[in-house]
Amino acid sequence: MDGARVSLGPVGGVGRETGGEGGLFSLLRRRRSTRCFAGRAVDREQVGGLLWAAQGETGEGHRVGPSAHGLYPLGVTLIAGAVEGLDPGAYRYEAGAHELRPVAEGDLRERVAGTTLVDREWLREAPALLLLSGDLAAATRHFADQPPRGLRGQRYVWLEAGHASQNVYLRAAEAGLGAVLVAGFDDELLRGVRPSLLPYGHEPLGLMAVGFPAE
Ligand SMILES: Cc1cc2nc3c(=O)[nH]c(=O)nc-3n(C[C@H](O)[C@H](O)[C@H](O)COP(=O)(O)O)c2cc1C
Repeated sequence: MDGARVSLGPVGGVGRETGGEGGLFSLLRRRRSTRCFAGRAVDREQVGGLLWAAQGETGEGHRVGPSAHGLYPLGVTLIAGAVEGLDPGAYRYEAGAHELRPVAEGDLRERVAGTTLVDREWLREAPALLLLSGDLAAATRHFADQPPRGLRGQRYVWLEAGHASQNVYLRAAEAGLGAVLVAGFDDELLRGVRPSLLPYGHEPLGLMAVGFPAE
């Protein structure tokens, strides 16, 4: 079909119904991947805001991102290096209580950075990493009757990881923090850092480095 083009008006409508400087369109415009972090710690509330953006609960069994059949197959594990008020270590985000449960001790950033395909030099400098994981097997079983069989459930999980990632990017932009999704890593090497990094039955989906951007 070859008809006349239709104008959509000004992009974003910044300053109008989108909430101006801090509004959604402004955050979408400002969102960028940050790979250069200031040598400054983040605090627990800042990290809490990012974790909530990734997978927080919003009431009546819902979370911040959509989930096929409301299955919620994602998990988030915080790998803390320089987080005020938190010992270096890995912590599982418990969405219901908005709490952290320790799962591994010590600063694991260097080892986790070493599992990436090309990002080891700078990734270890981020004060914290968010490991997004998903129960692909559970989703595969749950959606077994949907074609293509054995794949549809997994696709849903990957889509949901994308929602979680973008939410973290946007919250980071709002809070003056930087973030980047790193999905290029070796799954088996990552598992080998500490088996407890991943919830039982979960596959690693992405790592998000977060912190204050360098000036
Ligand atoms: C699925 C996916 C995987 C990515 N993996 C990596 C990665 O392994 N390392 C990295 O530095 N950036 C990674 N990124 C970030 C992209 O490089 C980045 O989004 C792109 O360069 C565009 O820049 P912007 O995010 O600042 O707009 C990934 C992004 C996506 C969506």
